[in-house]
Parts: sequence; C-alpha cells; structure tokens
Amino acid sequence: MFAAEWAPPAERHPMHIKVLGSAAGGGFPQWNCNCRNCVSVRAGTPGFRARTQSSLAVSRDGVNWALLNASPDLRQQINDTPALHPNPRAGLRHSPIKAAVLTNGDVDHIIGLINLREAQPFSVYASDRVLATIRANSVFQVLAEPLVPRIEMALDQPFQLEGGGTDLGLTVEAFAVPGKVALYLEDKSSTNFGSREGDTIGLKVTDPLEKKSFFYIPGCAEIDEELAGRLQGASTVFFDGTLFTDNEMIEQGLLNKTGARMGHISMSGPQGSIAAFSKLGVGRLIYVHINNSNPALDDNSPARKAIDGAGWEVGYDGMEIRL
Ligand code: MLT
Ligand code: MN
Ligand code: ZN
Repeated sequence: MFAAEWAPPAERHPMHIKVLGSAAGGGFPQWNCNCRNCVSVRAGTPGFRARTQSSLAVSRDGVNWALLNASPDLRQQINDTPALHPNPRAGLRHSPIKAAVLTNGDVDHIIGLINLREAQPFSVYASDRVLATIRANSVFQVLAEPLVPRIEMALDQPFQLEGGGTDLGLTVEAFAVPGKVALYLEDKSSTNFGSREGDTIGLKVTDPLEKKSFFYIPGCAEIDEELAGRLQGASTVFFDGTLFTDNEMIEQGLLNKTGARMGHISMSGPQGSIAAFSKLGVGRLIYVHINNSNPALDDNSPARKAIDGAGWEVGYDGMEIRL
C-alpha cells in the first residue's frame, strides 16, 4: 500500500579481498636460490606453486581498490588481476587503484610504488617512520605530491580510506606490532634491531556498512598480550608465515640468521604462531609473506599437514575472499 512499508530484502555486499602476492621478500622461486623448494617449483614439481611478493588488494564495491603493500612484483600482479586493469570506458588513463597502505619499509612492501608512476592520482598511507624512509629516497619523487599525497597513519586511530578523489567506503586502523626496522635501515654498529613504534604495523580493515573486518599482519616478531587481545575472536586474519621453524634458513645453509633476528615469528614451536592463535578463537587464519625456505610451501610436506591440522590456510597468489 505505502512504499514506506515495503523494504527490499537486505542485500549483502561482501568486501572483496585478493591475495596479490603470498611470498616473502625475494618471491618464490627467488632469483638466485637453489634451495630444495626453489629448485622444485622451477622444475614444475607437483605440490609447488610459484608466488610473487607480499601484497593484498581490498575493495568495498569491487570497482575501486586499495593495495595493502606495494611489492616489487606489482606490475605482474596488476596484469594477472583483471579487477585492477584500467576500465576501458574510463578514458585514456585510468586505474581502479586508489590507495596503497604500507605496513613497513621493507623492500618487498614499498618498491611497487615505483610501478604506479605515470601521473595517476592515488594516496599512499604509511606510518611516520615509513614515510620518512620514502622521503629520504629521492627515487620515490616520481610519485609527485599533490597528485600522490603521502598520508601519515596515526596508530590506533581508525580513518576513512580515500584516494584519487574516491571514498573507498572502508576504514583502516593501523597498530604497532612487535617487529624491527627494515634490513637496509639496521644500524650495523649496534645490536639494537628491536621494535620501534611504527616500524612494523598491522592493519584492521573494516567495512562499516556490513560491520565486517579483517586483520592483515604480514610481518610480526611475537604475539604478545596486547596483540593477542586485539585478535581475540577476529573473523579473518592474514598473518606472517615467513618461516616454519626459527632456524630453518641456517639449517638449510641459506643465511646465517634466525627468524627472531629477522623480526619474524615462526609457525611452529611453543612460541610460534600456530600455538599462539590456538587460543584466540579466530574464524579464518591465512598465512601470507611465506619465505622460499618454508617447508610448508610443499603441499605434501609434514609441515603443511601440521598447518592444515591446526586449521590454518596457506595463502596463494590469486586467492580471493569475500567477507
Ligand atoms: C623481511 O620481511 O624480513 C624483509 O623483507 C627481508 C628483506 O628485506 O629481504
Ligand atoms: Mn618482507
Ligand atoms: Zn629458495
């Protein structure tokens, strides 16, 4: 009778999340590596899948997208992801990418910005410490302000994600996690590689309309009480899957560094992420930023079975999630 009495059934518009790159720095295979995994994936051995470097893309509407980290493989990732291609009806120059949000200053997370030159407007979001790194490297001036504004993310203060004249309809909250400064910023003369506020952050991305959120934490040294409290009961977490065991790079003769020294928690062990998350009641747990040394990259390995058994998924390039 009256239009006001009728309401269409509430239509769900789930958020889109795409894993653009699921490997850690160096990718999989890594260009100069002859470890068992890299040799196997190059040879096309069943159970091994190539992976590009660490990045996600997220969208509220499936039209406008934000990158979460910008990896050195971004050009390939865009080419492999039709949703990130220029809309053919949008004029000679266009990109669905309206923002890039950075979680640290690592090479695998910032170098892709260089692929986004060519006078295309979008916003770069990062902590003050990561923005300082970008400012100190003059090559990033190819992304000239004001076309590409660099926006400082204050920690623990959710903000509305926007860029290229577009409101993405998502909020983002950045928070400090245990970690360390980027490798190339380490002070070689000291032994102080410890966490400093904002060197490594995690992100909580929320769709305020649908009241859905996920966490993205591709680098993390430890799940301390504060972080555990934040993640308790979360629906979906993408988490640092760099190493399976803390000393695997040393044992394989690849690099004389533990995961702890690199600022990465391991999957296994009493201090590992599998154990830490077992008490947190998270709905969906997905490893990303997986290093080429990680035995879980072999689908048929005992490590992979352990992960599967603990209810984790191993992220892969092209993985899509609707939330
Ligand atoms: C890391 O995740 O620890 C870094 O990406 C390592 C690197 O810079 O190669
Ligand atoms: Mn990395
Ligand atoms: Zn390797």
